[in-house]
Amino acid sequence: MEPSLPARCRLLPLRIRGDSRGSLIALEKATGVPFDVARAYFIFDTREGVSRGCHAHHRLNQLAVAVHGGCTMILDDGEMRETFRLASPDQGLLIGPMVWREMHDFTPDCVLLVLADAPYDTDDYIFDYEEFRRLAGS
Ligand code: TYD
Repeated sequence: MEPSLPARCRLLPLRIRGDSRGSLIALEKATGVPFDVARAYFIFDTREGVSRGCHAHHRLNQLAVAVHGGCTMILDDGEMRETFRLASPDQGLLIGPMVWREMHDFTPDCVLLVLADAPYDTDDYIFDYEEFRRLAGS
């Protein structure tokens, strides 16, 4: 069942272009990425029991895809918190500004690809959950 997601978050079904050789998924405006990509990074080799994320962004838009393996996502917009498993290469997760996100329970083989609409900028981060709640409520 599709999770009901917090505000500014959306699941994006990604079209698999398959043929007898295998599969390919393209990420661009034409396939539903709703922003110009300024940065891509991927998280892999995540140690057992490690959690990542645990922050929000003031302005950043991101698209996360578990291209291999999976992890548990927690998304929180200050009003609702949803926990679900992101574990399919044909499922994109759009995370907008002012969403607290945590990633837990990575499979050892997980490769989590993230596209973003801005360069890396520590000033855009909110690391403190109480501060996030305060800002989200105002
Ligand atoms: P970090 O923000 O801790 O990752 P996460 O929030 O996913 O747990 O990033 C780990 C390191 O990588 C940290 O030193 C900052 C650096 N980093 C970059 O240089 N560029 C990036 O785009 C990102 C996301 C992180």
